[in-house]
Amino acid sequence: MNKQLFTFWLICLLPFTLLAQQQAVPTPQWRPVYHFTPAKNWTNDPNGLIYLDGVYHLYYQHNPYANVWGHMSWGHATSTDLLNWKHLPIAIPEIETKDTTTWIFSGCAVLDKNNTSGFGSNGKAPLVAIYTADQPKQQKESQFVAFSNDGGLTFTNYAGNPVVDIHKKDFRDPSVIWMEEQQQWVMTVAVPQEHKLQFYSSKDLRKWDLLSEFGDQGDTRKIWECPSLTPLYVDGDPSKKKWLIMISSGNQDAATGMQYFTGDFDGKTFKNDNPAEHQQFVDYGRTFYAAIPYNNLPDGKHTMLGWLMPFETQTYPWRGQMSIARDLLLKSTPEGVCLYQQPASVLNASLEKLPASKKLVKQGVEIDSKEVSFSRGKQFNTNTNWIDVTFTPGTGEEFGLKIAQDGMLKEETVIGYNKARNELYIANVKGGKVAQTDKLSVKPSEGKIRLQVLFDKSSVEVFVNGGERVLTTLVFPGEKATGWGVFSKGGKVMVDTLKVWDLDNLR
Ligand code: FRU
Repeated sequence: MNKQLFTFWLICLLPFTLLAQQQAVPTPQWRPVYHFTPAKNWTNDPNGLIYLDGVYHLYYQHNPYANVWGHMSWGHATSTDLLNWKHLPIAIPEIETKDTTTWIFSGCAVLDKNNTSGFGSNGKAPLVAIYTADQPKQQKESQFVAFSNDGGLTFTNYAGNPVVDIHKKDFRDPSVIWMEEQQQWVMTVAVPQEHKLQFYSSKDLRKWDLLSEFGDQGDTRKIWECPSLTPLYVDGDPSKKKWLIMISSGNQDAATGMQYFTGDFDGKTFKNDNPAEHQQFVDYGRTFYAAIPYNNLPDGKHTMLGWLMPFETQTYPWRGQMSIARDLLLKSTPEGVCLYQQPASVLNASLEKLPASKKLVKQGVEIDSKEVSFSRGKQFNTNTNWIDVTFTPGTGEEFGLKIAQDGMLKEETVIGYNKARNELYIANVKGGKVAQTDKLSVKPSEGKIRLQVLFDKSSVEVFVNGGERVLTTLVFPGEKATGWGVFSKGGKVMVDTLKVWDLDNLR
């Protein structure tokens, strides 16, 4: 290296080289075991979720080249149990031509059973992906179609793209379902800046007609993205069908989040069950985003995956993870029909298969104003625990669980219930000080508080009272912060049942 070049390197490039090296510290201690992460590099939204022949396909927003957002392409992974994932080659790569860069933004996949599109070959049903082509140089987003005749490994872009174009910079995230009664495909797609959705219909996935629009209702503080429209039976009763719209948009003021609407959809128009100003949220943490349901699940099931947005947090060599698969349920409540979520029921089979040494059950344990650490015997100190605990509140002011504990460094994550405030909170404590708190309002159900806590190295998902409310957050515990236990403050609480599974050996 000549002297001039060396001086240039020293002054201009060395700081960046050092910074890059600093960020590139591997963080295996935060790599989830039973949640999906890409083998390396960036992920955001789940895309094209579809179940085919016993296999769950997950496509996802991916940068194949770096650990930051960019070069958007569809990454691909498959699973048979929604816990272990097999990494596959990029399914739809970005398209670069002389004048145009096309990034493959979010979208969905459908199995075209009757080959309505004519994309199928050899008499087989094609898999059709419908996604947003983001073309930054043209400042345009429009909807593209691509098809696969090899079971979803590779896709061919349709020569007649775009299939829907309204000449806007922001117009994205198509979600398509088949409506048997109307014999039509229906696409729900967002016009983000206008806080509205558009519904289109098609007979062949190529030609689309605008049906109607829905918008300016619920929470309109943030842009609307990643919509979905799903039919569900209220309380599982086939005579009580309702439609669920989920949208990624605002939640609490300073956060991103998802909201939902319930109502009726007649194949043309969506009619909201609630007044326009009514707001309902999917998850009360700030990390859960861009969730969409699986298509083509058996037995009328509806299960979704969401993205856990990493914000400024750094992990390496990957960044971003998916939530646990969650079943979507609608229930009648005194407040009307509400969304409930549960860890997907198919996951139970995997829990049942775990050896006895990976399961712990306690019943009827009263705690009196002190922590009772069930991990005292160094049991399950892996930060990969699935905990299902039911409390009957007593005289205690607060009670709940503590996880990711390091007594020496005064570090822990407290998942607590405050009785007076009817509030569930997750407090991240570092060096004895609360670094961050997430919370939601919820009352005991039939006098009890049930918490299903899915803790996986750096993600914490808390389903309260059978999924009436959900709170998801990210934590980044120190290497020795692996203690956990149950606590009560200011009085007594009864732990009716405590079940814990250790999922560490899945990886
Ligand atoms: C949501 C989102 C989508 C878009 C994709 C791009 O996180 O902004 O609206 O399609 O990410 O990566």
